Amino acid sequence: MSEPFPIAVLVSGEGSNLQALLDDERIHVAAVAASRAEARGLERARAAGVDAAAFVIADHEDRDARDRALGDWIDEKGARLVVLAGFMEILGRDFIRRFGGRIVNVHPSLLPAFPGVRAIERALEHGAQVIGVTVHFVDEGVDSGPIILQEALPLTYSRNVEEIEARVHEVEHRLLPRAVRLIADGRVSVDPHNPRVVRVEDGRHD
Ligand code: GRF
Repeated sequence: MSEPFPIAVLVSGEGSNLQALLDDERIHVAAVAASRAEARGLERARAAGVDAAAFVIADHEDRDARDRALGDWIDEKGARLVVLAGFMEILGRDFIRRFGGRIVNVHPSLLPAFPGVRAIERALEHGAQVIGVTVHFVDEGVDSGPIILQEALPLTYSRNVEEIEARVHEVEHRLLPRAVRLIADGRVSVDPHNPRVVRVEDGRHD
């Protein structure tokens, strides 16, 4: 990697995707913020020697005030990319605009199928035969921003939710760090003629 590319990671719970980012020696996690003080992701960050803090809406006047404090903290840490890794809250419009084009999210479905919560359960309830993982830029909608990377998983045998979640997580733990590395290396660009289309130069999509 040519120049330093510090990232901030936002979590709400377990933080297994955060762990995959922390474990990747090519990625520099500069800060971890959580929407809940009890998020296990905060412990994972501290164990890795990374600055970590909770930004709970109830501790601020309203969500916008929380978002402003969070944004200021992220800027102080010098992060160039904000990674939502199991961050279970909607960020306000001002936050999205402030970090325009510099926020990514990992979602456990092949978007635009099954945006929002309980994506895996809803895919199973629907009888989907293929599920997957999407890493995408974040816009003002719910899981609606331009797609950076996707990987499909066939659902050929098991319909057991825990087992499928585990398989989805394995894919997430590969796909999210890969997307971050590609962005850090300047290999991801949005088509100026069609902002829905993201060009990824990873040797596979050329
Ligand atoms: C992941 O499945 C991610 O796709 C979704 O929330 C889950 C977070 O898991 N947005 P973890 O906290 O990274 O273990």
